[in-house]
Amino acid sequence: MRLGVLTSGGDAPGMNAAIRAVVRQADALNHEVYGIYRGYQGLLEGDWAPMVSRSCANILQRGGTILHTDRCPEFFRPECRAEAAERLRKAGIEALVIIGGDGSFRGAEALHREHGIRCAGIPGTIDNDLPGTDRTLGFDTALNTAVEAIDRIRDTASSHGRLFLVEVMGRSSGMLAVHTAIACGAEAVLYPESPDDTYEALVSQLHANWIRGKRSSIVVVAEGDGVGSAMAVGDRLKRDYGMDLRVVVLGHVQRGGSPSAMDRIWGSRWGAEAVRRLGAGERAFYLGEVAGALVAQPMAKVLEPRPVPPRELGALVGVLAR
Ligand code: ADP
Ligand code: F6P
Repeated sequence: MRLGVLTSGGDAPGMNAAIRAVVRQADALNHEVYGIYRGYQGLLEGDWAPMVSRSCANILQRGGTILHTDRCPEFFRPECRAEAAERLRKAGIEALVIIGGDGSFRGAEALHREHGIRCAGIPGTIDNDLPGTDRTLGFDTALNTAVEAIDRIRDTASSHGRLFLVEVMGRSSGMLAVHTAIACGAEAVLYPESPDDTYEALVSQLHANWIRGKRSSIVVVAEGDGVGSAMAVGDRLKRDYGMDLRVVVLGHVQRGGSPSAMDRIWGSRWGAEAVRRLGAGERAFYLGEVAGALVAQPMAKVLEPRPVPPRELGALVGVLAR
């Protein structure tokens, strides 16, 4: 079998571990692998090259993706997916391994449904917002990066008795925000899926903390929160209450860096499993982890609603800040 592997959407630590496992498991089973550059953009352009085991030396511990990644608006158009399928057929590439998030899997689902291209998905996004898996590559690393940064902020926040609003990534998902908030003992968290998020609720929570004697607070704000960005909420608090607060946007620092051991292990397991299943003739699936076990889901499961952070975790932040 000749297969292609690509990374798509936002990069995530652990993608290189998955690429390495795809190539080396394929080598062990005598399959050929082509590395496709810049996600679906490279697929549309035929920008690919053969990969062998030595192509993946010394990448396991590196963040980012050696195949590069991109967002490719053309891939939303059925006629462009038809061109991509034709290119794959001409090159004799029978199946694809797609490492990415829900958008990348939606593209794979369409490519399979419309043109029968066999597709295996490996969850790779720091957002951890795919249905049917408890984990995605990069989330564990990004979470630890955010927590380490906020631990540092905590030192200066408590020294000055200041409020800090710290923005973490997650345009449409609060998974990273809520888990970061628990792990760094934040006083409050704002995230897009929260039914209780209001400016007034935040103010009354901060006020209650002040009455209890807390002189410094950390509020974790997800990038896509409905109340506003950390900057917008900070400006409003300054205007309304004249608070001496500071805003920190962690940004892409969360996307880079050496993957955690768990991201390396799951990248390795999923990469190898994807190749074994494609080799056995499976057609359209993505891999995941549920309650510690490796699972496979039909690719169409990506069309189901995204998971939201467990409500009790959001509530726990307030309880533990007492
Ligand atoms: P992620 O995979 O991290 O969620 P995006 O949502 O940006 O990242 O999607 C990555 C790429 O996947 C898009 O730029 C596009 O090429 C492709 N894609 C996303 N959604 C679809 C869709 N509904 N149909 C076809 N292709 C899609
Ligand atoms: O999907 C991963 C993610 O990091 C989101 O959390 C964030 O909203 C988005 O990508 C930012 O993407 P970029 O800066 O690459 O456009």
